[in-house]
Amino acid sequence: MTENRIALVTGANKGIGKEIARQLGEAGYRVLVGSRDLARGQEAAGELEGAAAIQLEVTDPDSVQAAADSIAAEHGRLDVLVNNAAIIPVGDAAASEIEFGVLREGFETNVVGLLAVTQAMLPLLRKAEQARVVNLSTSLASFTLVGDPESRMSTKRTFAYNATKAAVNMVTVMLANELRGTGILVNAADPGNCATDMGGWGAARTPAQGAAVAVRLATLDADGPTGQVHTEEGQLPW
Ligand SMILES: NC(=O)c1ccc[n+]([C@@H]2O[C@H](COP(=O)([O-])OP(=O)(O)OC[C@H]3O[C@@H](n4cnc5c(N)ncnc54)[C@H](OP(=O)(O)O)[C@@H]3O)[C@@H](O)[C@H]2O)c1
Repeated sequence: MTENRIALVTGANKGIGKEIARQLGEAGYRVLVGSRDLARGQEAAGELEGAAAIQLEVTDPDSVQAAADSIAAEHGRLDVLVNNAAIIPVGDAAASEIEFGVLREGFETNVVGLLAVTQAMLPLLRKAEQARVVNLSTSLASFTLVGDPESRMSTKRTFAYNATKAAVNMVTVMLANELRGTGILVNAADPGNCATDMGGWGAARTPAQGAAVAVRLATLDADGPTGQVHTEEGQLPW
């Protein structure tokens, strides 16, 4: 029964997050479209099946708590949390020259914000029968790929983005370990390079293609994996 299941997708007013929300809605979930700008969230939700907007700025503790309170009051639990919201901070650069303000901004949104939302939603996830948490990651967080001079991933000079997403992978593994045996599965999804504001509009993959791997992890059966990063093709090397 997925009709009554409740899913929250952060940063779902556009891009891959909106597509994740669309696909979960089509799968029968009641989807909460997280958006820091409520009007843009409402506009997106209006185009999607089974969706409603919720104001959510992941770096604002009041906004995060208000979202958790409103989900608790309206639904009493949360079945799926997709931590999709993220940035490549303006000014992102190589490790040798990154400005620390830029680095801090990246960590504030991509890591602290993601954890703040996760911690706030955890009591609601624990109330669901078999909750799923999906964190959006990237092959730019793979030590194996970035460390391979032959790989395209080794050529990118986005230290803040890569480092924050590597931290997201560690959140994924450590939270999965903590929650083992509770029925909550925690995984990360690498959507591949998709045509969005972040991915660049020339990217080969559509946001819908990128969303599919996150949706698969959000709808895993009870015997599914936990603590892993997946691409469309399978597990991403660390
Ligand atoms: N596109 C790719 O090629 C690619 C590849 C690998 C991984 N990813 C990952 O996939 C996810 C989605 O990427 P995308 O390409 O869809 O990016 P996008 O088009 O730039 O969308 C990012 C979303 O996150 C929201 N957001 C950013 N900062 C936020 C904050 N502080 N609080 C709340 N929401 C915030 C944005 O809201 P606003 O509209 O208000 O800015 C937007 O809704 C990200 O985690 C990204 O790292 C993307």
